[in-house]
Amino acid sequence: ILSAQDQKKRAVAEAALAHLPKGGILGVGTGSTVNFLIDLLPSLQLEAAVASSKATEDRLKAIGIEVIDLNHVGSLDAYVDGADEIDRHLHMVKGGGAALTREKIVASVAREFICIVDESKWVTQLGRAFPIPVEVIPMARSSVARKIVALGGDPAYREGVVTDNGNVILDVFNLNILNPIEMETLINNIPGVVTNGIFAQRGANLALIASDQGVRTVKP
Ligand code: A5P
Repeated sequence: ILSAQDQKKRAVAEAALAHLPKGGILGVGTGSTVNFLIDLLPSLQLEAAVASSKATEDRLKAIGIEVIDLNHVGSLDAYVDGADEIDRHLHMVKGGGAALTREKIVASVAREFICIVDESKWVTQLGRAFPIPVEVIPMARSSVARKIVALGGDPAYREGVVTDNGNVILDVFNLNILNPIEMETLINNIPGVVTNGIFAQRGANLALIASDQGVRTVKP
């Protein structure tokens, strides 16, 4: 039996199929919403997929989809992923699952970014309800944290978490993000930051949002 939220995640995954290219190579994100989609991917008869995390790679392989290294791919027609928050410009916060760096890399080579979420992720201002994840080189944890405090944020070390790239995560609370593109740039400029979870310079091209009323599509 699926919870009401999981039913929405499954519904949005089903709706996504109609928006994804058939055949070819698909970029695949990470998280519980995408996991519903992965189960449905055999129907797209993909040539292969590029995975945004070890977890997604393992799931894709388990259902018989070939996973290829991004270095062997020029560009992707589409990247599909969930988000922790998304606004009407289709700017997002991602990284709740700590996969933000690989997600941002794979998204950067895709012509279309299709974001699949349930309505709980839809917000008017990013970073108020959900903290901004920042992946940091371990030796820079404290120095980055101090610079984030200077930007007005409250960083919390996500204890016990090591990313697929061997780094640590700071979750930044209480940032007043009036301009997501600017804040993404400011955080990226701190030495020791690998990636931050604001996806605004490269937002989504299409969002599919599931509610009790069905799945609606939003463009920026
Ligand atoms: C992974 O690092 C995140 O960016 C995910 O995309 C995000 O956490 C969405 O996950 P759910 O679909 O599980 O909410």
